[in-house]
Amino acid sequence: MSLRRELKSNIYAVGAIDWDRRLFDELVPLPDGTSYNSYLIKGSKKTALIDTVDPTMTNVLVRNLEGLEAGDIDYVIADHAEQDHSGSLPRILDLYPGAKVVCTPKCKDLLMDLLLIPEDKFITVADGETLSLGDKTLEFVHAPWVHWPETMLTYLREDKILFTCDFLGSHLATSDLFVTDEATVYEAAKRYYAEIMMPFQTTIRKNLARINDLAIEIIAPSHGPAYDKPDFILNAYRDWASDEVKNEVVIPYISMHGSTKKMVDYFAEALIERGITVKQFNLSEPDIGKLAMALVDAATVVIGSPTVLVGPHPKVVYAACLANALRPKLKFVSIIGSYGWGGRMVEQLTGMITNLKVEILDPVVIKGVPKEEDFEALDRLADEIVNKHKGHSIIKAKA
Ligand code: FEO
Repeated sequence: MSLRRELKSNIYAVGAIDWDRRLFDELVPLPDGTSYNSYLIKGSKKTALIDTVDPTMTNVLVRNLEGLEAGDIDYVIADHAEQDHSGSLPRILDLYPGAKVVCTPKCKDLLMDLLLIPEDKFITVADGETLSLGDKTLEFVHAPWVHWPETMLTYLREDKILFTCDFLGSHLATSDLFVTDEATVYEAAKRYYAEIMMPFQTTIRKNLARINDLAIEIIAPSHGPAYDKPDFILNAYRDWASDEVKNEVVIPYISMHGSTKKMVDYFAEALIERGITVKQFNLSEPDIGKLAMALVDAATVVIGSPTVLVGPHPKVVYAACLANALRPKLKFVSIIGSYGWGGRMVEQLTGMITNLKVEILDPVVIKGVPKEEDFEALDRLADEIVNKHKGHSIIKAKA
C-alpha cells in the first residue's frame, strides 16, 4: 500500500514513519521512534522530491511514489547529506534516471564520498539561488551546521513552506501530518534540539535571523510532524538557543556505597529550600537524552561522583564527555563526592569539560561518609549558587 498525504495542493508527504527505532548514531535514545520525511512537489512544468529516507526504509518511499513514471521526477533536493535523509538517493536515482540531485557544493562532495553518486548527477546551488518548477519556485537558503556544515533549507515561495530537514525537527513517530499535541511535540523537539542542535547554538541564532524575513505558513522538517503554526517551534528555538539560562541546577551523579548519594540528596534539598529548580540524574542507567534536555536551560551543573582508582567513576566520565561535546550554555559547574584514600577526581573532571565556558565553584569532596561539617560545606555551596544565580545578569526566572 502507498501512503501519500497532501500537505497543500500538489505537495505531498511521501516519507516513512519509523515506529520501532530506539537508537540514533548508536548513541541517541529515541523513546518515541522517529520519521524520515520526504516531500513531493509537483509544479506545472517540473517535479521535485525534497530529501529521501533512511536506507532501512527505502521500500516505503518507493511505494509512496507509486504511479510516477521513470521520467516523472526532475530534481531531488538534498538539504542534508546524512544518510537518514540521503540513504535512499541511489535507489531513487536508479528508478528516476533523469533526476538531478540539487544541493550545496559541500553536500555534493559529501554525497559523492558517502554514497558514490556520480558527479554528473548533481546541480549545485548558491545561497539564495532559485529553481523554477513552473508555477512553484524553490529558493535555497544555505544554513550550515543544522546539522552538518553542508546543510541548507528550501523555501517554496508560492506556498510559503520552509523545508528544514533536521533543523526544527523532532524524533517522534506519529501519524499526525501536522502538530496536534503541542506538549508532546515540544518535549520531542526539545530532546532533539538538546541531542543534535545544542552544540551549534550560535549558528542556530544566525539561521533563525536569516529566516526571519521569510513569510512562512508551514515549516516542514524531515523528522517529526510539520508545523502549521510556525511560531510554536520558532519561539521554542529562540528560547533554547538564546544566551539566557534559568535558575536551575542539574545534578548528574553516581554512588557506589551510598556516601555520594547522601551528599547529593542533602544538597538537592538544600537547593530546593533556597528556591532553585533541581534536576537529579542517577547515571547508573541514564537516559542521556533527558540529561541533555536538562542542560538546555540550566545555569549550573553539580557533578556527584565517588572516586574509583584515583579518578571519577567511569559513568561520570561518560556524562562529563557528553556534556562537554554538547556545549550547553551553562555558567557554573561544581563537583561533590566522596573518596576512600585520596585521588585526583576534581582535576580529572575539570580537565574533561574545557569546551564549557563556565566558572568552577569550589568542590565539596570528602573522605568517607558525610559528617556534620561536610553538610555545612554543602550548605555553603548551595548559598554560593543562589548568590551566583542572583548576581548573574542574564539569569531569567523559570517560566
Ligand atoms: Fe536527520 Fe543529521 O540527520
